[in-house]
Amino acid sequence: MTTIGFIGSGNLGSTLARLAVDAGHDVVLSNSRGPHTLRNLVMRLGPRARAATPVEAAAAGDLVVVTIPIRAYRQVPTEPLRGKVVIDTLNYDPVRQGRAPEIEAVPTPAHLLLQTHLTESHVVKAFSSIFFRHLATLGRPTDAPDRSALPIAGDDTDAKREVAALIDSVGYDAYDVGPLDESRRFAPGTPAQHAHLDPDGMLDAPGRPVSAADLARLLSA
Ligand SMILES: NC(=O)c1ccc[n+]([C@@H]2O[C@H](COP(=O)([O-])OP(=O)(O)OC[C@H]3O[C@@H](n4cnc5c(N)ncnc54)[C@H](OP(=O)(O)O)[C@@H]3O)[C@@H](O)[C@H]2O)c1
Repeated sequence: MTTIGFIGSGNLGSTLARLAVDAGHDVVLSNSRGPHTLRNLVMRLGPRARAATPVEAAAAGDLVVVTIPIRAYRQVPTEPLRGKVVIDTLNYDPVRQGRAPEIEAVPTPAHLLLQTHLTESHVVKAFSSIFFRHLATLGRPTDAPDRSALPIAGDDTDAKREVAALIDSVGYDAYDVGPLDESRRFAPGTPAQHAHLDPDGMLDAPGRPVSAADLARLLSA
């Protein structure tokens, strides 16, 4: 089993931490306000979870998930993540989250920003195209007929293999879309980003299972 560091422990981070703990992984959680503010979450998650600073979580993780508001990406510690596999869940979604002029001012497209900051880490985009409530409920055992696929993209094959193993352990198939730049195909506003939403795009409706074949269709739409 793996130790997973979390930089960011909000809606998506805490949901993924729950799934990871249930799958037998250890998790080290962090946020911007300090470990003491994560006490309740750690208690709910149980003995496989502990709270730390972002630097400690980055250092502790075999795999590290960065799941913070994208405007804070420059605050992610670089040194402890050197050489590591980093999962990037970050989206820039002006429609749902409001505009961030400081992100729009950077010439790099939003889906590549974290890798430009973590130049010496192996960044894999994953868990960025599923609403956290749907992530909590759509996981299924291997070979279940309604198991969903989640897209991943990254430039390092071994890193993607590690991330795919984590995704499998929490109840999903990983669908490799290609190099990191291809993650634009499941960025906000694309059909693939809305794959699990009901046809009206209502977030409070139950999530819909999405097979690899469905996902492939949406990715090329
Ligand atoms: N929510 C979803 O369903 C979903 C789905 C796909 C992708 N995403 C993407 O995933 C990311 C996280 O979304 P979310 O909904 O989980 O956000 P959220 O609920 O607002 O949580 C953000 C977390 O990041 C922490 N944080 C903020 N600045 C930080 C910093 N400089 N260093 C360390 N931690 C920091 C926050 O800690 P404090 O509270 O202490 O500031 C909080 O724990 C976003 O980029 C979003 O676009 C979200």
